[in-house]
Amino acid sequence: MKTRITEMFGIQHPIIQGGMHFVGFAEMAAAVSNAGGLGIITGLTQRTPELLAKEIARCREMTDKPFGVNLTFLPSVTPPDYPGYVRAIVEGGVKIVETAGNNPAKWLPGLKEHGIKVIHKCTSVRHSLKAEAIGCDAVSVDGFECGGHPGEDDIPNMILLPRAADELKIPFVASGGMADGRSLVAALAMGADGMNMGTRFMATKEAPIHENVKQAIVNASELDTRLIMRALRNTERVLDNPAVERLLAKEKSLGANIKFEDIIPEVAGVYPKIMKDGDMGAGAWSCGMVVGLIYDIPTCKELIDRIMAQAESIIRQRLEAFL
Ligand SMILES: Cc1cc2nc3c(=O)[nH]c(=O)nc-3n(C[C@H](O)[C@H](O)[C@H](O)COP(=O)(O)O)c2cc1C
Repeated sequence: MKTRITEMFGIQHPIIQGGMHFVGFAEMAAAVSNAGGLGIITGLTQRTPELLAKEIARCREMTDKPFGVNLTFLPSVTPPDYPGYVRAIVEGGVKIVETAGNNPAKWLPGLKEHGIKVIHKCTSVRHSLKAEAIGCDAVSVDGFECGGHPGEDDIPNMILLPRAADELKIPFVASGGMADGRSLVAALAMGADGMNMGTRFMATKEAPIHENVKQAIVNASELDTRLIMRALRNTERVLDNPAVERLLAKEKSLGANIKFEDIIPEVAGVYPKIMKDGDMGAGAWSCGMVVGLIYDIPTCKELIDRIMAQAESIIRQRLEAFL
């Protein structure tokens, strides 16, 4: 399949694995890239730019295909060493960066002067248009269904994607709720040039996370995610568990007065405990509604091959037959 996204990134299939905290290690990115998609290392999971440089080098040993690095710009009191991370990306010869969070304008010149393509992930048409205006090469349009931070507009992809198609000139991929060949064909039908998946890639053999997390994903249904941190305007979609229920009870009792400090036990520093140790009660972790469509734990190659075969059969048989 050839789309503006496969052409732009030099990949075989229009499928991207979005940055995921404590999931997007070299093993994950390399497996997706080797399967013909675009794997992405999560920059900030590496505590320092030096460690990111090592992770990029490790990934390069595992694949000769293109892969990217995610840079998430979060508001914080002591911001990470972003200039250092950018340097590690440039010096590591990475040619694709997925940005997310705040407006990446400040970092674009330093990336583009080295021929790096930037795909910015955003949750609204207005932010997508802003990304286009500041010179991003593509956007990843993240609907309300998505795992992680869906923003505060709550527009699902059935509306958001065609709206993005109506406004954008640069190519975009559909993100949030994507799982299989049906998702890909639907995304293409609504104007996207490919799709980005997070949660689906966690339930793969190569995902470098604890088996308990993969089993939790397989066992969960589409009814099992919750939105947390609404009152803090930092909404996150997570898989329900006792820690999330505790957090939601605090949100209910404290209402608009809630502060980040109130929920630190449930959200701060919990990712390694969950993803590495498999301690599923340790806190809240991002997970999309698409969890209801995940029934197995294939290799990345099996998953991507299956998606592409299903997409082709839907286009050639099911859709063609209606005409
Ligand atoms: C466990 C997990 C961690 C994530 N961490 C990040 C992150 O650090 N930065 C980021 O830009 N997106 C992050 N995301 C969002 C994904 O890149 C992607 O946009 C999202 O998962 C798409 O929705 P889906 O899960 O329905 O496929 C995360 C998602 C998950 C599931």
